Amino acid sequence: MTGPSIEAVNLSKNYERFAAVSNLNLRLEGPKCVGFLGPNGAGKTTTLKIFTHLIKPTSGEAYINGQDITKNVRKALAHAGALIESPEIYPAFTPREALSEIAELRGIPRTERAKRVDEVIAEVRMAEWENKRVGKFSKGMKQRINIAAALLTDPEVILLDEPTTGLDPRGMTEVRDIVKSLKTRNKLIFMSSHLLSEVADVCDEVAMIDHGKLVKYDTLGNVTSQFSRGEGVVDITVSRDIDEVQVTAISAVDGVVSLEKLDPRNVRVRFRGGLDAQEKLLYDLVSKRIGMVSFKGSASALEDAYLNLIEDSR
Ligand SMILES: Nc1ncnc2c1ncn2[C@@H]1O[C@H](COP(=O)(O)OP(=O)(O)OP(=O)(O)O)[C@@H](O)[C@H]1O
Ligand SMILES: [Mg+2]
Repeated sequence: MTGPSIEAVNLSKNYERFAAVSNLNLRLEGPKCVGFLGPNGAGKTTTLKIFTHLIKPTSGEAYINGQDITKNVRKALAHAGALIESPEIYPAFTPREALSEIAELRGIPRTERAKRVDEVIAEVRMAEWENKRVGKFSKGMKQRINIAAALLTDPEVILLDEPTTGLDPRGMTEVRDIVKSLKTRNKLIFMSSHLLSEVADVCDEVAMIDHGKLVKYDTLGNVTSQFSRGEGVVDITVSRDIDEVQVTAISAVDGVVSLEKLDPRNVRVRFRGGLDAQEKLLYDLVSKRIGMVSFKGSASALEDAYLNLIEDSR
């Protein structure tokens, strides 16, 4: 058998005469993370709900690892774990109790339950909290338990609907780190998000949807370079308020196209070329001794691509 896959074939979902998902064709295959992007109401949650059999499509088919989700629900869902709308965990439960209950519901044999619960608790890095009551947990910790629940059956396909929404920066980082570690373990992760920087950080590919229709599906690199006109973008931070001398020094670096002050200590630099040019830019900026304390590839290339594609689809 090939790697994990999900596939939509002419998939549509209508609410009365309104098309929430419209003739969607999309095939994702292999271990990777695919970001699912689109404006509010684009049809992301609806699509993910169809793949988890929470709602039925009006027409078309949805497959998980080649199994039709409508005709072979059990077989299809046997390979999938999902976090769609963060369910509330009973506050008096500990993570261990909550996950053991869910493991039972999912049909994991009694003899294997404790071991699986241990494994998923470790996977979401909650071992030190496993016997504390969930009622006292932060949102980020609860979300990690929800992710652990999605992983109980050790699924190859993982569907996540905005897993970091509502979390503070630390909670977001923790959830992203979990997603990154899942990627290394042969999983296919399909994750909706409104945070382009998050998608640029953790995803290998992006699928964009608008008005229920697929607008683009390609690798992150292709999507961004198509709209970047051969330019790259980095955001740099300096240790004190930037002055004209520094601006001139940065502008003079070979390959720099433009410079935009985001705030007194943060500057966005556009430069010609790809990763090689970015490496050289970093080297040149360091040697200019401008007090640079951080240098980071920016998500703004994906932002440009997103705005262009969504604009074109209207
Ligand atoms: N049960 C329902 N009855 C009628 N319309 C619905 C229903 N569920 C969703 N819709 C509509 O379908 C469209 C797609 O909704 P969906 O929740 O899939 O969008 P989304 O891409 O997840 O948006 P968001 O980014 O806001 O989460 C929206 O216009 C929504 O109002
Ligand atoms: Mg949604």
